Amino acid sequence: MSKRALQQRLMSLDQAGVTSLPRRRVHSNADAAMAQGTQPTTAAATAASDRASALAIIRDEVAACQRCGELAAGRTQTVFGVGPPAPRLCFFGEAPGADEDVSGVPFVGAAGQLLTKIIEACTLSRDEVYILNVLKCRPPGNRRPESAEVANCRPFFEQQFEILQPEFICCLGTTAAQTLLDTNESIGSLRKRWFEYRGSRVICTYHPSYLLRNPPAKRDVWEDMKRLMEAMGIAVS
Ligand code: URA
Repeated sequence: MSKRALQQRLMSLDQAGVTSLPRRRVHSNADAAMAQGTQPTTAAATAASDRASALAIIRDEVAACQRCGELAAGRTQTVFGVGPPAPRLCFFGEAPGADEDVSGVPFVGAAGQLLTKIIEACTLSRDEVYILNVLKCRPPGNRRPESAEVANCRPFFEQQFEILQPEFICCLGTTAAQTLLDTNESIGSLRKRWFEYRGSRVICTYHPSYLLRNPPAKRDVWEDMKRLMEAMGIAVS
């Protein structure tokens, strides 16, 4: 890595609130196989293509959904989710914003760019995690999702998790955490604890939008990410 690239990387880590550096990581069986110069198994490849097909069916249902009249009328498009069909880790956010509504991809605006930095600080890349939201349509003015809207979208994200079967889910912010865990507890009290959701281990942290408004909280998120990395077997120095 050139000196300039290294400087940029360090600046990016600083913006993500990183205070120490991960050392090395071993992610999936596929990664381990690649590291050893072998191919992932055919069974794994087949399972992944089955999951991709199953996700494509739900994606089409979401794209046609009219359950929330106001949201369906106001959207440019639905924002389903992005990532590999068999991820170890999912990031679960609240709802698309203006940038996501236009692009159809979750977390691409300012908060998304910060999330990308957080993911990379964990020595992961966006390509190897799955990112999805509670709501698939943008609420007007980026207001909080209403409970009826969450109820309408619940079957979609539940089916996504059912297909993805991630080992880990990281809830970003209050809406994602309270919805997934079916609780009214504050995000502050849900942090620093592990939960279980249908076989996935769940951790909660602050939403990147909150970090944009309150940069000192990046330190807390980095503590949460270190806890997550430790559980995933990613070494942190
Ligand atoms: N905030 C979210 O919760 N999700 C997005 O996709 C973008 C911003």
